[in-house]
Amino acid sequence: MKVLIVGSGGREHALALAIHKSPRCEALYCAPGNAGTAAVAENVPLAATDIEGVVDFCLKTGIGYVVVAPDDPLALGMVDALAEKGIRAFGPDKKAAAIEGSKVFAKGLMEKYGIPTARYRVYEDCVAAYNDVRMAGKYPVVIKADGLALGKGVVIAQSLGEAQDALRSIMEDKIFGASGNRVVIEEFLTGPEVSVLCFTDGETIVPMVSSMDHKRIYDGDRGPNTGGMGTVAPNRHYTPEIAEECMRTIFRPTVEAMKAEGRPFKGCLYFGLMLTANGPKVIEYNCRFGDPETQVVLPLLQSDLLSVLEAVTDGRLAEAEVSFRDGAAACVVLASGGYPGSYEKGKEIEGLAGPFDPAVTVYHAGTALKDGKTVTAGGRVLGVSAVGDCLEDALRLAYAAAEKITFPGKQLRTDIGKK
Ligand code: AMP
Ligand code: GLY
Repeated sequence: MKVLIVGSGGREHALALAIHKSPRCEALYCAPGNAGTAAVAENVPLAATDIEGVVDFCLKTGIGYVVVAPDDPLALGMVDALAEKGIRAFGPDKKAAAIEGSKVFAKGLMEKYGIPTARYRVYEDCVAAYNDVRMAGKYPVVIKADGLALGKGVVIAQSLGEAQDALRSIMEDKIFGASGNRVVIEEFLTGPEVSVLCFTDGETIVPMVSSMDHKRIYDGDRGPNTGGMGTVAPNRHYTPEIAEECMRTIFRPTVEAMKAEGRPFKGCLYFGLMLTANGPKVIEYNCRFGDPETQVVLPLLQSDLLSVLEAVTDGRLAEAEVSFRDGAAACVVLASGGYPGSYEKGKEIEGLAGPFDPAVTVYHAGTALKDGKTVTAGGRVLGVSAVGDCLEDALRLAYAAAEKITFPGKQLRTDIGKK
């Protein structure tokens, strides 16, 4: 079978390496891919959001299966468009992708079905939102753009001034475009955060090993939010008891709610959870594999990934074999200087050839090939992952490898997995 992966980040490189190993994969393509995917797949110069281009390419090339990895093509209905032409694809259809594409929809779903989450209100009017924040006078307060915003649409405002700035830039200056037509304002929750990626075919749910993201740019969880600066798996806060509670109060009710709403979810459903003093609550849903969570979850997967993905698409997940090895994985992200603000691209990356411990995998995120050299091409450049018998081993190996790779302006967090 010929397989196409849509997307170009570290997550897509991790998916490519896992799918490439599958005996079912006869040829692998990635659109548009990066310098890392080029080593295991043929990169196809199509934007991840180019639905028509991707459908045409699949028909022309005889692609048998597509994995749509990023949120935007899912929200735009790429899986629907492929299905119309009889092409099987992994990921939710447009209606189901709304669970990530609209925070207003997601909050309404949780409210209607009693799924634990932060208390909230929706606003279409900036002045009304501002007045309510001022009247409540309680900080921090959490302000979220309704739509997709490259992982940057959430502001934790510590004061009225910060809330006002956030509301103005989201709702009036429209820094995220139409995603800011509405905002959700919600209560600030505290507790350890856990990411749980689940395979689901709309009926059966199979959680993957839990993980922890590190969203802020600087050590000690300081500075602005990013797409994710590092991950560890499993998440030590996520005990078997909590896992059982999440399945009962969050995972199963969510999958059943989506089915009841006529939006059955097939794909990878990502639960961003906070373990509060009042039990686990949903911080966010994503309709896809997380990045950089995928770079620690897939290295621990023992089963054939492609077979599991196909079982999800075909509604046979209950029969699929999904198992994870014991031990732990860690991923340290190397980012461009200036990220998550503006940064320069095209910096030559050195040290990629290692040598590295065999337990290490260097996932490319924002990289490109230029005159035979690998250069930076994004904010998050590389994800350096390692597996080990325990988290300390995985972290030691990942950091040792991360040190050997250099490029001008390189920044990384030195405290991944320390919390
Ligand atoms: P998101 O983009 O939805 O993942 O949100 C980014 C980050 O903001 C999350 O990972 C949390 O750390 C934080 N966050 C979002 N919602 C809340 C909340 N209600 N209370 C506290 N922190 C939150
Ligand atoms: N790591 C969080 C996300 O993928 O949205």
